[in-house]
Amino acid sequence: QFVATLVRRKPRCVLGLATGSTPLGLYAELVRMHREEGLDFSRVVTFNLDEYVGLSGSHPQSYRHFMQQNLFDHINIDPRDTHVPDGRALDFESYCEQYERMIAEEGGIDMQLLGIGGDGHIAFNEPGSSLGSRTRLKTLTEETVRDNARFFGSEKDVPRLAITMGVGTILESRQCLLLAAGASKARAIRDTIEGPITAQITASALQLHRDVIAILDQEAARL
Ligand code: GLP
Repeated sequence: QFVATLVRRKPRCVLGLATGSTPLGLYAELVRMHREEGLDFSRVVTFNLDEYVGLSGSHPQSYRHFMQQNLFDHINIDPRDTHVPDGRALDFESYCEQYERMIAEEGGIDMQLLGIGGDGHIAFNEPGSSLGSRTRLKTLTEETVRDNARFFGSEKDVPRLAITMGVGTILESRQCLLLAAGASKARAIRDTIEGPITAQITASALQLHRDVIAILDQEAARL
């Protein structure tokens, strides 16, 4: 409802999108609203948080592929307005700067969807990421590689590097919608919402943001 209300109120809104299992229900609901209620995405612009380095958009585990399968292929969005970082960019430094520039040129992100990693990361801002960081390459932690191995054949198939919006990039969005479900997120959610602001739990930087909505199930909110 939050997303749909924004899309109706501002047809050319800029959505920041997330991957992972958590937003799957949200995307399915948006597809349903498009089909059954005519929710119109024809002018919506999207920027995804992150992508694995080395995977092309057609790789089944790439985040581009995930977005096509779970959302873009089922709504009337203009493919040219969907942006997922290019995991196979040739010059990552200039590509990351360009990604930031494209966001700015669209007027900034109106609503950023966020899941959370078991270690409290948002996007792929692993523990130790500067809270002012911008879009760049990050090395994934062992915990994240293990968590995401379920989507790949085995741990050794999980890329070790990702291109990710920075914490600073995320904090500039006008509103954040943080989603978490399940007991495996309880500690990260407690640290994010009630703990000290620290680069060790990059989601805790959201305490500095003026407009964050956290939607949690009982298990994720347990602590
Ligand atoms: C990855 C993504 C994050 C996501 C996290 C949690 O690390 N880069 O954006 O929030 O996974 O994923 P899940 O929702 O599957 O628990």
